[in-house]
Amino acid sequence: MGLRRFIEALRIAGRLTSVGKTVSRHLEAAAVLNALDERPVLFEAVEESAFRVVGNLFGAKQQFADYFGIEPHELIPKIVEAIENPTSPQMVDEAACQEVVESDVDLDRLPILFHCEEDGGRYISSGVFITKSGAGIQNVDFHRAMQIGKDRFSVRIVKQRDFDALLNEDETLPVAVCVGNAPNVLLAAATSVPLGVNELEIANTLEPFKVTKPKTFDGMIPAECEFVLEGVVKLEEREAEGPFVDLTDTYDIVRQEPVFHVTCITHRKDALWQALLPGRREHQMLMGMPREPTIYKEVNSAGVTCLDVNVNPGGCSWLHAIIRIDKKREDDGKRAIEAGFRGHKSCKHIFVVDSDVDIYDPYQVEWAMATRFQADRDLLVRDREKGSSLDPSADPDTSFTVKCGFDCTKPLGEKARHFERAVFPEIDLKKLLGE
Ligand SMILES: Cc1cc2nc3c(=O)[nH]c(=O)nc-3n(C[C@H](O)[C@H](O)[C@H](O)COP(=O)(O)O)c2cc1C
Repeated sequence: MGLRRFIEALRIAGRLTSVGKTVSRHLEAAAVLNALDERPVLFEAVEESAFRVVGNLFGAKQQFADYFGIEPHELIPKIVEAIENPTSPQMVDEAACQEVVESDVDLDRLPILFHCEEDGGRYISSGVFITKSGAGIQNVDFHRAMQIGKDRFSVRIVKQRDFDALLNEDETLPVAVCVGNAPNVLLAAATSVPLGVNELEIANTLEPFKVTKPKTFDGMIPAECEFVLEGVVKLEEREAEGPFVDLTDTYDIVRQEPVFHVTCITHRKDALWQALLPGRREHQMLMGMPREPTIYKEVNSAGVTCLDVNVNPGGCSWLHAIIRIDKKREDDGKRAIEAGFRGHKSCKHIFVVDSDVDIYDPYQVEWAMATRFQADRDLLVRDREKGSSLDPSADPDTSFTVKCGFDCTKPLGEKARHFERAVFPEIDLKKLLGE
């Protein structure tokens, strides 16, 4: 379908809020995105830039499902299938994302948003970083980038991730930061797969698309994206990055991070800048959703029938996971907890529930915990270990944390009877009240 057609479909369906009045990229656009929460927004005019801005496009699973033409519960199997069966995108010479080529770089011309009062600067938060190492490994992932000059950013690079490994190896990496991507590319970029797997091939199985070569190195980038910022990231050249509101809705600290020098910008003629409001729904979706298939796979591999997984917004879409299983053995709950932690290493708390619990309804999950869980029997506490760098309660230097799992499933067999939810009789209110 592509991003453009999706935005057009939203407009036709009356689900796109179009802001005609000029807004500032300094705080005002972010305030509108926040106020409209999950509603997609198109800013027709931005005070400091000639480009339009879109945002809040994928703030709910339903939006991703609509894009792919499937139901939300079909997303996990679809992503699992794509991770297991990557396919090559079609390479083309002529690409929309290179309609305009600017080698005289001036980042101030772009509508890069300043999101929150205490942020360290204007941030690209939707940028998909594509690199190719000297050894020929193409890697695709997200990194936030804080503008620190007309042609420079400081870039948050989490240690021990793939990009960090490649940068440590090569010290200077060519990079194309793609902004304005369709969900196949966004989701693939957010998956955690072994180094060497080209995430664009996962994107192509999610939905076939075209790629082209960037102008400054021999890699592949989505041909239909809106903007591409090309240049190099240098390991040894560091500048302050942060503060920045992260997934947990709290400020991440200032760190000395590698610098990204931009040498060339390409874009569509009427390019749309894709905003991604940090810490809000869309950011949560992109972080949490790609972890659900990996948890799902691990639980099933452990011999437990996993029906669904929700890395839920209440847990910042990162620190909590709710796993719905078809329990067949008494220890299935605990096995699912252990497998869940293997499937998402940053997860801190896991809740396992039976098939009769709606994992998208927080009341129902809490009900299962209230009625089926006993701490001395059903709580699994692990030794201190590395958790998420995003968790403000983890050790700030080592990210060490205590992870635990709650087996909120009911016992099997005869005993299960006492745990069943009562069923009330149904009534046709229309008939009774005549409404
Ligand atoms: C919206 C979004 C923003 C992200 N920002 C960063 C970031 O600033 N730095 C970082 O290292 N990882 C960031 N990530 C996480 C990486 O993309 C994530 O770790 C990736 O899926 C794993 O890639 P890897 O297996 O190639 O290391 C972000 C993810 C998303 C979805």
